Amino acid sequence: MRDALGDVQSVLVLGGGSEIAVATVKQLAKGRCRTAVLAGRDLAKLAAVADDLRAAGLATVDVVAFDAAQPDTHAAVIAKVWADHPDLDVVLLAFGVLGDQAAFDADPAAAAQAAVTNYAGAVSAGLAVAGHLEGQGHGTLAVISSVAGERARADNFVYGSTKAGLDAFAQGLGDRLAGSGASVLVVRPGFVRTAMTAHMDDGPMATTAEAVATDIVTGIQKGAHTVWSPAKLRYVFAVLRHLPRPVWRKVAASR
Ligand SMILES: NC(=O)c1ccc[n+]([C@@H]2O[C@H](COP(=O)([O-])OP(=O)(O)OC[C@H]3O[C@@H](n4cnc5c(N)ncnc54)[C@H](OP(=O)(O)O)[C@@H]3O)[C@@H](O)[C@H]2O)c1
Repeated sequence: MRDALGDVQSVLVLGGGSEIAVATVKQLAKGRCRTAVLAGRDLAKLAAVADDLRAAGLATVDVVAFDAAQPDTHAAVIAKVWADHPDLDVVLLAFGVLGDQAAFDADPAAAAQAAVTNYAGAVSAGLAVAGHLEGQGHGTLAVISSVAGERARADNFVYGSTKAGLDAFAQGLGDRLAGSGASVLVVRPGFVRTAMTAHMDDGPMATTAEAVATDIVTGIQKGAHTVWSPAKLRYVFAVLRHLPRPVWRKVAASR
């Protein structure tokens, strides 16, 4: 339960090693957040992240095994998290794979696997989390979508399509939860310099995990339903979404 000042006290991160998520938890720790649960598949990496977060001020950091690509396990994993931590203020859905479009073109099964992680895994985990948030009558599910889902680009349309599906799912879930006390925050970052993009040149309006974290924490505190990061991307994509297809192809190819 948030404290009397409305500050977040506890957070569950699905995809606990994500750089954006770790930066977000560190910012929450500067307020009143003292408990974090990191869920992910590389437990050794998560143990190191947990040490880092304890050094940042968190009193309790637990690590649990979670594979987004195994949707049939999610309800049980998340039920166990809630059994151990019966009241969670924020759940950050941060897992995701970018992949490589050329590799996906050559290996359709690998493309489908990325879709399972980014979309199907988010559907099963998101619905399981929503049930618990509804049950406790409060809490925010923050879903890290992407501007890549706003309009598919030829050079990463598999990733973009998974984010388009994820984004629509998160919006619909937020509408379903309206009035329950629980809510969904859809986060739409642009290009963020993290492990996911370390092999790439900066995209337009490139930003940092810390800047995205600030936008996420502000969105949670304000009770927003959507956050663009940086904020001006909202207006950029209001235009890009409506460009004629031949123009969009040229714009997308030139970036
Ligand atoms: N960086 C960007 O430019 C950008 C822009 C827009 C949106 N996003 C989104 O932001 C989110 C966080 O990304 P990031 O930038 O912080 O990159 P990141 O540091 O690479 O984080 C991605 C996380 O996803 C986890 N993950 C991947 N597959 C998983 C699975 N099957 N089960 C559980 N966890 C899994 C990874 O865990 P492992 O360590 O086990 O691989 C990693 O911790 C992602 O959803 C990404 O799509 C990123």
